Amino acid sequence: MRKNKLCIMVEENKESLAETGARLFERKALEAVEKQGRFLVALAGGSSPRGMHRKLGALPSIPWQDFHIFWGDERCVPLDDPSSNYGAAWEDFIGRVPVPAEQIHPMPGNETPQKGALLYEEELRQVFELQHPQVPAFDLIFLGLGKDGHTASLFPGYPSVRETEALVVAVKGGDPDVHRLTFTFPLINAARGVMFVVSGKDKAGAVKAVIEEQEETLPASKVHLSSGDQIWLLDREAASLLKDATLSAFSCG
Ligand code: 6PG
Repeated sequence: MRKNKLCIMVEENKESLAETGARLFERKALEAVEKQGRFLVALAGGSSPRGMHRKLGALPSIPWQDFHIFWGDERCVPLDDPSSNYGAAWEDFIGRVPVPAEQIHPMPGNETPQKGALLYEEELRQVFELQHPQVPAFDLIFLGLGKDGHTASLFPGYPSVRETEALVVAVKGGDPDVHRLTFTFPLINAARGVMFVVSGKDKAGAVKAVIEEQEETLPASKVHLSSGDQIWLLDREAASLLKDATLSAFSCG
């Protein structure tokens, strides 16, 4: 049996996955604002969350003015570069919703990567009103999953996967193979909630290896929230190799 609790939601296709993801985003935001007056969220990069992002702008009750938006990883490229995770999110919804500019926190891709990682870690603690070595607890961190089991920009075999102190580190790799900044597991695992958004047949093997086999060599297997909920929002293709018993045992209900 799995050590840490997670739950799985399977949607028929990419469109319904995006719709459900957007509604969950809205619900989590409303809950956080109700409880503490603001919503501290980190977005995933890559293509998987973009359908969900594009639906957010149309949702009527999202309290945008109470958001602080961060990124769980970023490619060290100009913000207007097509491979920028910030640039994609800006195009998909941020440019059209009223989050105050000072509450949008892109990773500093224009600094040297090592300096950018330190600056972002400082910015995190400043917004969360914490001192080193306290670790910010996000209300929600979105994560993607690579075919190789990476998440954020934590790639298999990289030392950054075993980082235990720094909250943000600089790495080089992935597709595109560029310098990147990424959250580390001390920061990810301090979150109150994590949501993987995964779609497509090419991810089914990694989904099975992480959820059912808990393959320890895969970085995504290291997501273990001490008290938060870990949600896997999948389309049918990405869930296609999971046993029925797994789907029923871990259904989000
Ligand atoms: C990145 C992403 C990365 C992504 C996975 C899945 O910046 O590359 O954060 O971790 O989530 O690689 O990417 P796709 O969603 O494009 O398949």
